[in-house]
Amino acid sequence: MSVTQLRTSTDTPIRRVTSDSLLQKKLAHQPISAITAYDYPTARLTDEAGIDMILVGDSLGMVVLGYENTLPVTLDEMLHHTKAVARGLRRAFLVADMPYGSDHTGTRDAVRNALRLVKEAGAQAVKIEGGAERAKLVRRLTDAEIPVVAHIGLTPQSVHSMGGYRVQGKSLEAIDRLCADARALEEAGAVAIVLEGIPRELAAVITTQSGIPTIGIGAGPECDGQILVFHDLFNLTFSPSAKFTRQYGDGAAFFSQALQQYREDVTARNFPSDAESYHLSREVQAEFEAARTRTRNA
Ligand code: KIV
Repeated sequence: MSVTQLRTSTDTPIRRVTSDSLLQKKLAHQPISAITAYDYPTARLTDEAGIDMILVGDSLGMVVLGYENTLPVTLDEMLHHTKAVARGLRRAFLVADMPYGSDHTGTRDAVRNALRLVKEAGAQAVKIEGGAERAKLVRRLTDAEIPVVAHIGLTPQSVHSMGGYRVQGKSLEAIDRLCADARALEEAGAVAIVLEGIPRELAAVITTQSGIPTIGIGAGPECDGQILVFHDLFNLTFSPSAKFTRQYGDGAAFFSQALQQYREDVTARNFPSDAESYHLSREVQAEFEAARTRTRNA
């Protein structure tokens, strides 16, 4: 079976990326590569491509589960997908999103939920959306030995309070607030910070001022790293792509062409071929036919 064949290629020990190695990359001005993954095969592929950080994003709600936004994603769904991704990783730093509602009902609940993502699912860090108002929680999680990746700017879990998905940090007041957010989250112990949907100029300033790596998505090239949603890279979202994404392959065209070909082959009895079929041994076949003849003649 192909999964077994894949497993045999994973025997060599590999050094795991940690929050410290991400920081070392920032200090050495080496860009950090990051991407989302949601299941075992995408985890295997992204890890083997040498990507530094894999995020099991709550974007899975939209790109994998077909929800309208990220809000319905549950902790159980995050656990399920994070476990699958963890089984496929050997090298990359694994971050799991705290889904909407899992960190909103008090610090105790948030710590308990984050612990489950680390302890049961194998995440090395959790990601939390929000600014300075989340600093206390980041501190509490950090004190509980749960590394936190912060996430500011366009935070999709705030879709209703933001009034849609809009680029953030465009006014002087918003710039000040986002710079203060980044500072507060770093001081609270965050190990990295995702900057989403903010002007390039602002992301560049936050990156320079920050002692922790900034990972940008729609935040320009000056960030310490870049992250994209796996399905955006391969045209698998069934919706128009945002300005900041880049398509590296047309997965939709590839899969739909292959699926049509498969359907045609089955319909025309071109699949499976004789070579794709199992056979009886000559002896068993001879006995089998003899038995059938006896039954017919009885
Ligand atoms: O959920 C997600 O995929 C994310 C990334 C876009 C940063 O938060």
